[in-house]
Amino acid sequence: MIELVIKNGKVVFPSDTIETSIAIDQGKIVAIGSSSIMPRGVKSLDAEGKFVLPGCIDPHVHVRDVFMGATANDDFFLASKATSLGGTTTIIDFAIQKKACLPIDAVQERRAEADGEVVIDYSLHPSITDLTPETIDQFKELIDLGLPSFKLFLVYRKDGLMVDDGTLLKVFEETKAHGGLVGLHAENVAIIDYLRDEALRKGHRKAIYHAYTRPPITEAEAVNRAIFLANHLNAPYYNFHLTIKEGVEMFREERKRGRPMYAETCTHYLVKTIEDLKGSKGINFICNPPLRQEEDQKALWKGLADGTVSVVSSDQVAFTAEMKKLGEDSFDMVPNGVPGHEFRLPILFSEGVRKKRININRLSEITSTNAAKIFGLYPKKGIINVGSDADIVIFDPNLKKTITTEDSLYSMDWYPYEGMTVKGYPVITISKGKIIWENGEFQGKKGDGEFLRRTISQDLLRTPVV
Ligand code: URP
Ligand code: ZN
Ligand code: ZN
Repeated sequence: MIELVIKNGKVVFPSDTIETSIAIDQGKIVAIGSSSIMPRGVKSLDAEGKFVLPGCIDPHVHVRDVFMGATANDDFFLASKATSLGGTTTIIDFAIQKKACLPIDAVQERRAEADGEVVIDYSLHPSITDLTPETIDQFKELIDLGLPSFKLFLVYRKDGLMVDDGTLLKVFEETKAHGGLVGLHAENVAIIDYLRDEALRKGHRKAIYHAYTRPPITEAEAVNRAIFLANHLNAPYYNFHLTIKEGVEMFREERKRGRPMYAETCTHYLVKTIEDLKGSKGINFICNPPLRQEEDQKALWKGLADGTVSVVSSDQVAFTAEMKKLGEDSFDMVPNGVPGHEFRLPILFSEGVRKKRININRLSEITSTNAAKIFGLYPKKGIINVGSDADIVIFDPNLKKTITTEDSLYSMDWYPYEGMTVKGYPVITISKGKIIWENGEFQGKKGDGEFLRRTISQDLLRTPVV
């Protein structure tokens, strides 16, 4: 007898949603078909009236982030447990190179924190901050180790993360040569640092000045530069956390030309605006790039619907309101980043599918399939298919929930989405065939998640794969 059968759910495939059943054994999907022909399972779940989606992939999280004097309020066990409650079954975090150390050292340190702790599978994007000859020598090794995607920061100069354009060009060259993908945090540091210093000189310290000193042009210029350099080398490019309408337009043009350029946005840019920085809790909403205007939100939603924007991540950072107070006297001292990755799927369902901005199949693409394809996890992850990992979320489209901090799994004292009521919520999360959440009960196990070795498809280096 096989281990698990999910019966009669509305199974979400890339271009169809079909009422059917799924058989699971030894962590894999072994059959898909009508319940009458399904083999008997040791356990059977009735998913009638529910959507059955591929487990979500969040390719942009910062677990236990240490930044600007704060240490995020989570660890790999808590973060992976919380995000899987919200339907995520794979996360990709970062391994940020320390100055005078090698990227591989950062990978080893990060793996020591995650291995044996995660309840779902995970991977890492190496982040290059110090391009010594020894670092250049490690690109091939990192890619061969299954870490083919990188994140570089064009900002955070005083925090020691920023790289210059020379480094960027070399990294594009090296990754392309060995079959990797460069992703960027694209903002113009020189303009931002100038505007910040000017604002502080004039005594402007409130949270809203965070956005005023990082206006859209600072992101637009950097995105444009990144695209220009990638095109110059005929290299693929992934833009982490795109927030502006001008950026959406740039990606639309590039993709029309068949260029392998991928834009990601995040949940908060789709439901929060610059107005949130003006309230009494404005400092909590400080993140980079900053929250934008409604017109940017509209452009992002349109880009998600028409295929211009490929992925929605969380950019999760569990900085509490207490930690954010480090900058209560001055916006530039606030640890940046927002929590709430456990609400990504329900928010996107309520705001996207219910409001008819996207359909359920597109929701599944932007939260799962596309990240799997771009980052080299497909078809192991990102699709409900025979042979794929049985990473599945059963989603009740009628379950209502109001987001509060009360049942936060890692004692968050605020969420950007607090007070928001969503209709549609995950009820069961399955990771590699094992039920890890069922109706709010955690059944997963610390250490059941594994480090994933990824290989990026060679097609992705030439044409858009999503
Ligand atoms: O404000 C943000 N996004 N914090 C996390 C670090 C980053 O830049 O992604
Ligand atoms: Zn970033
Ligand atoms: Zn980030």
